[in-house]
Amino acid sequence: MNNQHVLVCQQLVKRYQEGPAEVEVLKRVNLQLSAGERIAIVGSSGSGKTTLLNLLGGLDTPTEGEVLLDGQQISAMAENERGQLRNSKLGFVYQFHHLLPEFTALENVAMPLLMRPQVKIKTVKEQATELLTRVGLSHRLEHKPGELSGGERQRVAIARALVTKPCCVLLDEPTGNLDQHTAHTIHELMQELSQTTKTAFLVVTHDLALANQMDRVLKLVEGELIAA
Ligand SMILES: Nc1ncnc2c1ncn2[C@@H]1O[C@H](COP(=O)(O)OP(=O)(O)OP(=O)(O)O)[C@@H](O)[C@H]1O
Ligand SMILES: [Mg+2]
Repeated sequence: MNNQHVLVCQQLVKRYQEGPAEVEVLKRVNLQLSAGERIAIVGSSGSGKTTLLNLLGGLDTPTEGEVLLDGQQISAMAENERGQLRNSKLGFVYQFHHLLPEFTALENVAMPLLMRPQVKIKTVKEQATELLTRVGLSHRLEHKPGELSGGERQRVAIARALVTKPCCVLLDEPTGNLDQHTAHTIHELMQELSQTTKTAFLVVTHDLALANQMDRVLKLVEGELIAA
């Protein structure tokens, strides 16, 4: 493995048991994501994109194969160890945002930093505010998820994924609810971070305009990742 690869998976297989039948969603997936690289993953609905992202992010374990995050084998770790590695190295934007309903936008974004030992509340608030401003939500800091639109919630989730300055960010349909202009803002933010901080991005998307702005586009077809 090259040291520049922040995320690698080798011969990844995922099978689900459905009654007596076994469904092989991922057959043989190999991927190498370099520091600062931006990759789009496309594929039809049900092709296994979310399944793959969940394995890469250590939210689920593969049936076979391994996942290395910043050189560490996340797929073989115990749950608490995986959680720590995720919190320090990875940002994750879920297909369905998973914000905490009882907390404000600002608190939701600040949460991953607040979970760290010895943080300064003032600094955390400043960083969360800055990111929410970057995604166009400086006027929605005190709103709770229930008081935000779908696209606004999605942007809060993006800010939350970036607040820890992860080396790698996985995004599942991040612009699904966004208009073209707002989607472009998110794309610009990704481009800037990939250049300035060498953050790597892996984006699952149906948005071909967004996909084509990435460094590489890969397609999930019949359980394998191929160049699109
Ligand atoms: N926990 C599970 N148990 C059984 N089958 C599952 C499970 N999770 C997903 N699947 C199946 O795996 C396949 C891939 O699902 P996945 O959610 O990864 O697709 P996707 O590419 O993200 O689709 P979409 O574009 O609609 O979000 C689907 O056929 C789905 O039914
Ligand atoms: Mg999906």
